[in-house]
Amino acid sequence: MISFFLKKFSGRHYRKFLDQCRPLVVRINELEQQYQSLTDDQLRAKTDEFRARVAASADKRAALNEILPEAFAAVKNGARRLVGRKIMVCEHELTWDMVHFDVQLIGGMALHQGKIAEMATGEGKTLVATLPLYLNALAGRNAQLVTVNDYLARRDSEWMGHLYGFLGLTVGCIQQLMPSQQRREMYTRDITYGTASEFGFDYLRDNGLATRKEDQVQRDHFYCIVDEIDSILVDEARTPLIISGPAPIEREQPFTRLKPAIDRLFADQMRFCNKLVGEARTELEKTPEVRKQEADALKKQGAADIDPDPVRTAIFKLLQVKTGAPKNKLLLRLMETPEWRKLLDKAESEMASDFNKEAFYRLKEELLFIIDERQQQADLTEIGRKHLRPDNPDAFVMPDLATEFSELDKDTTYTPEQKEEIKLKAQQRYGDVSEEIHAISQLLRAYSLYERDVEYVVQDGKVLIVDENTGRTMPGRRWSDGLHQAVEAKENVAIERETRTYATITIQNYFRMYEKLAGMTGTAETEATEFHDIYKLDVVVIPTNKPCIRIDRNDSIFKTRRDKYAAVVREIEAANKRGQPALVGTVSVESSEVLSRMLKRAGVIHTVLNAKYHQQEAEIVMRAGLRGAVTIATNMAGRGTDIKLGEGVRELGGLCVVGTERHESRRIDRQLRGRCSRQGDPGLTKFFLSLEDELLRIFLSGGTASRMMEGTMKEGEELEHWLLNRSIESAQKKVEQQNFSQRKRALQYDDVLNLQREVIYGIRNGAIAAERAKDIIFEQIEEELATRLEAAGYGGKGTSPAAIESFVVWINGHFPIGLKAEELTGHDIDSLAKQLIERIKQAYAVKEAAEPPEALGMLERYIVISAIDRHWQEHLTELEDLRKHIGLRGYGQKDPLVEYKNEAYSCFSELMDNVRLQICTDLFRRRIGWMQAPAAPPPPNGAALPPPPAPTVTSRVTFSGGAAEAPASSSQGEKEIKLPSVTIRRDVAKVGRNDPCPCGSGKKYKQCHGA
Ligand SMILES: Nc1ncnc2c1ncn2[C@@H]1O[C@H](COP(=O)(O)OP(=O)(O)OP(=O)(O)O)[C@@H](O)[C@H]1O
Ligand SMILES: [Mg+2]
Repeated sequence: MISFFLKKFSGRHYRKFLDQCRPLVVRINELEQQYQSLTDDQLRAKTDEFRARVAASADKRAALNEILPEAFAAVKNGARRLVGRKIMVCEHELTWDMVHFDVQLIGGMALHQGKIAEMATGEGKTLVATLPLYLNALAGRNAQLVTVNDYLARRDSEWMGHLYGFLGLTVGCIQQLMPSQQRREMYTRDITYGTASEFGFDYLRDNGLATRKEDQVQRDHFYCIVDEIDSILVDEARTPLIISGPAPIEREQPFTRLKPAIDRLFADQMRFCNKLVGEARTELEKTPEVRKQEADALKKQGAADIDPDPVRTAIFKLLQVKTGAPKNKLLLRLMETPEWRKLLDKAESEMASDFNKEAFYRLKEELLFIIDERQQQADLTEIGRKHLRPDNPDAFVMPDLATEFSELDKDTTYTPEQKEEIKLKAQQRYGDVSEEIHAISQLLRAYSLYERDVEYVVQDGKVLIVDENTGRTMPGRRWSDGLHQAVEAKENVAIERETRTYATITIQNYFRMYEKLAGMTGTAETEATEFHDIYKLDVVVIPTNKPCIRIDRNDSIFKTRRDKYAAVVREIEAANKRGQPALVGTVSVESSEVLSRMLKRAGVIHTVLNAKYHQQEAEIVMRAGLRGAVTIATNMAGRGTDIKLGEGVRELGGLCVVGTERHESRRIDRQLRGRCSRQGDPGLTKFFLSLEDELLRIFLSGGTASRMMEGTMKEGEELEHWLLNRSIESAQKKVEQQNFSQRKRALQYDDVLNLQREVIYGIRNGAIAAERAKDIIFEQIEEELATRLEAAGYGGKGTSPAAIESFVVWINGHFPIGLKAEELTGHDIDSLAKQLIERIKQAYAVKEAAEPPEALGMLERYIVISAIDRHWQEHLTELEDLRKHIGLRGYGQKDPLVEYKNEAYSCFSELMDNVRLQICTDLFRRRIGWMQAPAAPPPPNGAALPPPPAPTVTSRVTFSGGAAEAPASSSQGEKEIKLPSVTIRRDVAKVGRNDPCPCGSGKKYKQCHGA
């Protein structure tokens, strides 16, 4: 409802913003006029003057707002002075020809206010960003700009760098394989350009891996403009950034073991489904007369069970196939007949009602497994389970631990120790079964829903994901949750070893850390609600400099993909004959290739881009507006490069943009349309669709469109109507909403981790920054002492000799203070704790006297950091597992998210306990020199030799540097002191009472778990 109003009144809303800006624009232009009489040096001196003014002011924010008109005027005047100057940008010579337009000044103000400026393609967003970046850099903190790829980061920083440099600001740019000293240097500049993943990984390395202050590269998270913000916060945000390395212990992979059985299962189901489709088709293709004759013949023979409605039976067979093999080729072919499609849709909605639960159940139970295409889920049926394990179908049923345990508790034939053992075994079994069920379900998804060369490609024995938005492969990225391993098993390539997560963050949460975030893009309006809900970012639509005269034609719909491509080729040929350039957008590499083959056959010269080589592609796209050019590009290819029209093209109607499929999201379609008609140029766009397209197939069933197509539509025929555009858009809206709620859900899960990460990184950074970390260490020891004294019965239920004995053993095992049991009697808990910590401090002083202080400082920091890292990394892996399996507990009316929060919270308390304990263990057992070898920071370029095992960054980059710590604690085979078993239950240490509770409830700690 709210978003409805937002949209409804958005026009007025923007107008208000524009009205506010107008007087400022006038003021800026006046000032700029005055500045024209200054010398270059005088203009440059303005920068220092502004800086001094901001520095002198107590309220920096207000100071920046106040300086805005002058600062913007200075930047605009700088641009004017550069006009005509030859500049180098990415090894190309250019002539500077830009002076900020008024709408660009307005865009700059929106960005300064932390809004998203929607400005159409070609409006010059690159130049717009110079205004707020210059202004905010005056505060003396790092102002940043995020671009979609490395090439654009370099291009824009070099291009705009000429302007910043002229005004006396420094600018830097982060590139993928830059070594860390250089990165740090880049972050010290006034303005830094880079990609979201480089910034995010630097953050993770700084906070999760670096062990010394000198190894941290980022300055702060002050102001950041995200270019193409929709593609970064919406499209890219699906995969989190992860730094991971090989897991210390290798777990057995169930995938290879299960594969042969799943192969058979899948083949049997396919055979069954093919048979069903065949039967259904034979039946459906009969004429009513034939059907009647056959029935009569049967009656004459006196057959017992004559099907009263064979068509219905046939349709049900199809429904069964759709449930068991939604991508079955024959089924898809049959669905091209509108009449049958309609019948199937009807049967499907009939089955969805409660009324027919039983019938639907029977239909499912004849299959071996069922696939839910919308929910992306796969499940074994009863007979599927028997098929896999004829000897023991129950092997795939989750044991009911709760009942088992409560019965066991009542049982008196076992000793408590035996019971513990039985419970432990049962828990292990539970873990094994759930892992196996999970693996099977992922294998079934891999077989049924993931198609080679569509969702992924196999190259050099590796499964590479194909990005659905850009069509490019994403080396290094992996599907999570075992799906990737499942696809590897399916394709018979080596299954990659399980990894351990060292550090992780979602792109969303990374960007939420900035004090001020802003964004720009050509297409944000459709996602305005999401930006508002999740990031508190408002979208303002900035008017174009010149009116847009683009013509958007209605979509043309064809029956089959083949017809569609044929029409696309005809359209391109026609444009090409006239000399009009055409840009063809595709949604996948596969369709780019199909089109390219067809064009070749038709003798049309063209270029294909797949968003693989950013720089070359930028250069090709630059020429896409020349006379007679034909360019095929997946969505992202060459984005951010503007297409200038060649000579005589304007008269031919400008660039012709052809879409070959509607994307799930309207935004991506708008992006494609926006590639033409920049700065008042003419242009034309048109989309070609077919009933076989994914979007139409899944989401148009039963709507207006299918009614319209009913009956009349023949092969080769073209359908076009504005009503159709509308229903396609509403289908897109549906998918957008579904994707939004998925992203929101994922974020809710991640929020839990985010709070915990803040706590941990806070302590970790405290240790890194401290000259001596012994205060942190003693604090932790004090807590541990208090906990243990309490557990031994002090200050509460009363002690026992055994409890005291075990406490003494523990103390003497950890601290060289020679404690005797009789020293513990006759004191209360507080004075005991005080005494003990004093004695430990004295013992430490002896050690201190013998060692050089800097070395000790390093050792202390290292004790804290290594304790945190070791347990935090285990914790991350544990939470990942938890998340993987929490869905399985969906039954019992429990919300998995709530369950997850609770368990994540108790894991976190445990983590804090473990860290504390580890610190106690390490203080006197660690010597100087222990941390030297692994203490080296992880240089992203692998310049220093990494300690084994080297972690890698999963996500775009391969990162061969060493994790600072992980190996130290795990690979040196240290023994643990066996501790007397004490149950420790304490609340999480180190969370301030007013801090948000780490359980993720959103409440303050004191009002939640800290209460
Ligand atoms: N004030 C200006 N005067 C003249 N030319 C300009 C001005 N601003 C931008 N341009 C030119 O407009 C073109 C497009 O600029 P730019 O690539 O920054 O656009 P964009 O809005 O980022 O587009 P996209 O959405 O494709 O990224 C460039 O060639 C640039 O030189
Ligand atoms: Mg751009």
